[in-house]
Amino acid sequence: MRITIEPGGPLKGELTPPPDKSISHRAVMLASIAKGKSRIEDLLLAADTISTLKAIKLLGAKIKGYGQKIPVPGFGARYQNYEITGNGLYGLSEPASFINCGNSGTTTRLLCGLLSGNPFFSVLSGDKSLNSRPMKRVIKPLAEMGAQIMARASDSYPPIAIRGGKLKGIKYEMPVASAQVKSALMLAGLYADGETAIKEPSPSRDHTEKMLSSMGAEVKEEWGIKEGYITEDFMGMGAEHVIKIRKMSNELNPFEIRIPGDFSSAAFFIVGALITRNSEILIKNVCLNPTRTGFLGALKSMGAKIDVENLKVISGDLVGDLRVKGDQELRAINIGKSSVPLMIDELPILFIAAACAKGRSEIRGAADLRVKESDRIKAMAAGLKAMDIEVEEFEDGLAITGGKMKGARIDSFGDHRIAMSFAMAGLAASGITEIENGREAVKISYPEFFPRLYELLGSSRND
Ligand code: S3P
Repeated sequence: MRITIEPGGPLKGELTPPPDKSISHRAVMLASIAKGKSRIEDLLLAADTISTLKAIKLLGAKIKGYGQKIPVPGFGARYQNYEITGNGLYGLSEPASFINCGNSGTTTRLLCGLLSGNPFFSVLSGDKSLNSRPMKRVIKPLAEMGAQIMARASDSYPPIAIRGGKLKGIKYEMPVASAQVKSALMLAGLYADGETAIKEPSPSRDHTEKMLSSMGAEVKEEWGIKEGYITEDFMGMGAEHVIKIRKMSNELNPFEIRIPGDFSSAAFFIVGALITRNSEILIKNVCLNPTRTGFLGALKSMGAKIDVENLKVISGDLVGDLRVKGDQELRAINIGKSSVPLMIDELPILFIAAACAKGRSEIRGAADLRVKESDRIKAMAAGLKAMDIEVEEFEDGLAITGGKMKGARIDSFGDHRIAMSFAMAGLAASGITEIENGREAVKISYPEFFPRLYELLGSSRND
């Protein structure tokens, strides 16, 4: 369905973003291999995490919803809390049919790692977008660990077939910084003889490390300084990060978790408020894990003022409220490779902020954006050009010269983050913006996105 956005704003009021997607996937998967009953409060209810829930169910885990059911646009009424009873590391069983991962790269890649260590046959597949996303990055190291794993087009794309079995620990240097690949190897490492050591070129989200450690797994982290890191770009952590995990000699402990709000979903509203006149919003209960909030640093460097209030620790992560006011003048920014993993999912909305900033921004070292749910470099370049913004496209990023955006018809390419980015752009543009497939696309991570947007706009729209 095509969504129309009228210019203006302002955004006013309070908003609680949906629960974190990355933590939700991991909580469901990890609970399914713990020994005993885990309780997950505030699980993200969106297409991607529903794919993970269904996958785990098909693999035989016991899942029970509890508490109140809430209406989720496009998915009916759903429980928000779940009790998952795992039967230990080897408690899953062979699925009777293929596992449909839908649009979810996280479901697919993490399951590759998990299922490589489980002694049965399974097949992972998904929608058109997922089945054209690169899987060799996870298949190659898993095969090195001894997994029998193969996929379409010489092990490149789903469907992926796995016959899990005996694994051995390896030392692996990841060519791309990817939390999904790192997590897949850590999950396989739980089953692999000896130690699995994974070196990431720069730090990426650390939810798997934190959750596995809290469940009793032996996880060690080592940091090294990469030569030249100080000059590479202004805020990249520039460090090498090695994660070591040993085969489990006993079972993983079950856990209780309350999942905080997703910073990546909050990011759209942060920029929406910054670029519209007279806006003032309070975004509540946002997960501020430092491996996720590189985007806040980027906005700060662009001159944005965002107040963090009510900081607390929930289930091991820093959580807070973000107060954002409108009418802020932004200046251009340069971003390089080592900062990219800390804001990978926020880059589409950062491009919108750059389009509203004074000067020419250059965001490079982000080639992986081309293999996300869509080619996000191409999609953002096309949309921004349609809105009259000067854009130079590189293989690994974009240069954007800030200007006055003009309403246009935008193709979301069915990608949730493209749709949400241009919805915010539309508020700061002149004239009407139309987003193709906007309504469908946001179901992946934020089904309530448009109702929440209309609420903050004080609009009575209910489309
Ligand atoms: C994710 C890692 C990132 C991110 C994705 C979620 C995760 O992907 O883009 O939305 O939960 O581990 P990569 O690992 O491919 O960078």
